[in-house]
Amino acid sequence: MSPTQLLQLIEQRQQILRQQGLLRQRQLRSPLLNQAAMICAGEQQLLNFASNDYLGLSFAEEVADALYAGAQQYGVGSTASPLVCGYSQAHYQLEQALCAATGDEAALLFSSGFAANTALLKSLFSEHDVVLADKLIHASMIDGLRDAKVKLKRFPHNDVTAAARLFESSLPLAVLTESVFSMDGDVAPLAELNSLCQQHNCPLIVDDAHGFLLTDTLNIKPFARLITFGKTLGCQGAAIVGSQTLIDFLVANSREYIYSTALSPACCVAAHIALQLAERGNLQQDLQHNIHLFRQLATAAGLPLLPSLTAIQPILIGESDRVLHVAKQLEQRGLLVGAIRPPTVPQGSGRLRITLSARHTAEQVEQLVAAIAEVFNGDT
Ligand SMILES: Cc1ncc(COP(=O)(O)O)c(C=O)c1O
Repeated sequence: MSPTQLLQLIEQRQQILRQQGLLRQRQLRSPLLNQAAMICAGEQQLLNFASNDYLGLSFAEEVADALYAGAQQYGVGSTASPLVCGYSQAHYQLEQALCAATGDEAALLFSSGFAANTALLKSLFSEHDVVLADKLIHASMIDGLRDAKVKLKRFPHNDVTAAARLFESSLPLAVLTESVFSMDGDVAPLAELNSLCQQHNCPLIVDDAHGFLLTDTLNIKPFARLITFGKTLGCQGAAIVGSQTLIDFLVANSREYIYSTALSPACCVAAHIALQLAERGNLQQDLQHNIHLFRQLATAAGLPLLPSLTAIQPILIGESDRVLHVAKQLEQRGLLVGAIRPPTVPQGSGRLRITLSARHTAEQVEQLVAAIAEVFNGDT
């Protein structure tokens, strides 16, 4: 195939996605200086209800100062993979702080949560293994399992009884779930899944990307837990926490860890300070207040909420083109929300993904609900 033919093929594929309203494209969105809740789209300033900066730490002065201090002390980049010379005191100290927060023996840092999840699952499992997983686990877990060629058995979302039934017909090596589901915002029945796993002496692996320090996910001690720094901590990077044996195994076997430049040490110092700020708990109270206010106002306005009590508040719409239409209407009213379509969510379950932050004011939340209600009412 010539380069021209390959480009034609690519264009045909793009055209199909375009026709289905599923073509993904980037938009330039730059945060407005020092305002965690505002974002610029060209000339327009939008109120941002689409980021995962749940505690608003990405703009915290202490975190930005720590990033600068970290860069001065350790350099901006780690300059090498961890096993060569990219593992510094900044990395070690962040790992220790994460272990203190979770009560785990050891932690291992990665440049992203995606890399950490795939690294963990690819390193642990192989084609002879059976793994049980919630139907809605994240793409990074799916990819890790696919790469490992495991036999994946999925149970309906959050259905512990169905998970228990799968134990009757298989001997799984692990059970996988998210703590807070990224597209639905609901919380996994972690205590029940944990007891099921204990009953069968089976490891539980929890993707805590959206739950860490936001809900009570630390009440259980899974075999392995993914923590991301790009959400609650407003930074970048991720960690797997677990036993010393698990972490030593990943250091020696994870290709993502061994063959990749280590996470920036400056980012580690910033994430360490963000962790300390998040652990104080006062920002979570502000966030809870906004979640409560949003749900109260949205319920009163008759909006079709999903049963989520977290910062992720989806509004189910259905078909992809309608999701885009509603999101566009909101943008025209100065509001940015996530327009989530297949394959990120199942066909016909396109939705607005609204994310709340501790930094939103009550007036901003009120403005959001009023705008959504206006668009919904105008459309019916
Ligand atoms: C549930 C879940 N796990 C893992 C990841 C990947 O984390 P990161 O963004 O740090 O790559 C995401 C990212 O959105 C996520 O939502």
